[in-house]
Amino acid sequence: MGIKKRFAEYYEQGFMPWVHKNPDFNLVEMVEKWPIQPCKTLEMGCGTGIDAIWLASQNFDVTACDISEKAIEMALENLPKTMKNSHFYVLDCLKDPIPGAPFDFIFDRGYFHSNRTGRDRKRLAKKVAASLRPNGLWLNISGSYDAPERETGPPRMKAKNIVDAVEDFFEILSINATYFGSDQKDPAPAWVCLFQKR
Ligand SMILES: C[S@@+](CC[C@H](N)C(=O)[O-])C[C@H]1O[C@@H](n2cnc3c(N)ncnc32)[C@H](O)[C@@H]1O
Repeated sequence: MGIKKRFAEYYEQGFMPWVHKNPDFNLVEMVEKWPIQPCKTLEMGCGTGIDAIWLASQNFDVTACDISEKAIEMALENLPKTMKNSHFYVLDCLKDPIPGAPFDFIFDRGYFHSNRTGRDRKRLAKKVAASLRPNGLWLNISGSYDAPERETGPPRMKAKNIVDAVEDFFEILSINATYFGSDQKDPAPAWVCLFQKR
């Protein structure tokens, strides 16, 4: 089953274990500590929009995209009516042109890792690079291989699989072992990766 149909079914069934009520602390920490200054930003696979909306609240000029109509509908429900510096689109980040490109900063939490083959992940890394200005940054949060095997949960990515997909297009600034910022009691281990376009 293709990724579009897979996520359409998840949203239709209400199976959305990735949904979080507060911005992921990994995003907040990276933006505050790096620091990443407010800039023209894209979130790919934004889901219900919580992280994109947090970025907009920090004065980032945000474009957020998801392939699922339901996800964007939920994101627009979460969007404060007074917030004008964010734009949400239903589109396929891999295949469709992205309005507003190129960006200074691209964020994704759980979209890159949803691509199941090395070939698809490399195609996506190439598209992310093509959507960034020179020296632009990509902050990625992916499920880690160090999570125990379980029936549900984020994909378990080996760090080397991430590196293999991105290194032709990006300098790897950092890959840190952490866990997802989540409302769950036992959040899954994650990689937080910062890449800079070559
Ligand atoms: C694991 S969810 C994470 C959602 C959100 N980033 C979060 O953390 O709450 C992955 C998201 O990627 C979206 N997605 C999958 N393939 C996509 C594509 N080709 N283009 C845009 N979004 C896509 C899915 O619809 C889904 O909302």
